[in-house]
Amino acid sequence: MSGRELVDMAFAMLERSYVPYSHFPVGAALLCNDGTVFTGCNVENAAYGSTICAERTAVVKAVSEGHRDDWAMLAVAGNGGDYCWPCGPCRQMLYEFCPELTVLVARGDREFVRLSLAELLPHGFGPKSLT
Ligand code: THU
Repeated sequence: MSGRELVDMAFAMLERSYVPYSHFPVGAALLCNDGTVFTGCNVENAAYGSTICAERTAVVKAVSEGHRDDWAMLAVAGNGGDYCWPCGPCRQMLYEFCPELTVLVARGDREFVRLSLAELLPHGFGPKSLT
């Protein structure tokens, strides 16, 4: 699957977002090495802090379905003028399972940039840090 296709899958998730408070839909798509894709959207809550981001929705879907050590690439997409940069907790959650992950970050005009998670979260704290 191309990066473009994965980004388009992330954009398709915007319509599933539940965003009555921020009105800022975000979509994500996580590609595994066997071609399986787990999608996600942000799901907000009246208790704002209980909101889950699109990337973490995709992560928990993958892990709960047995895919936690075969990730290839994640796309995240939003409708804003700036790229939809993953928030800090999402970067940390991704780092837990795949420090080498490739991340595609898209903006509203559907342009996207490709980065490594190490660029987004240098010197991350992960499972190896506890040994
Ligand atoms: N959001 C995400 O879904 N992913 C991120 O990495 C950044 C922020 C969501 C959370 C909230 O529903 C909305 O964007 C505005 O912060």
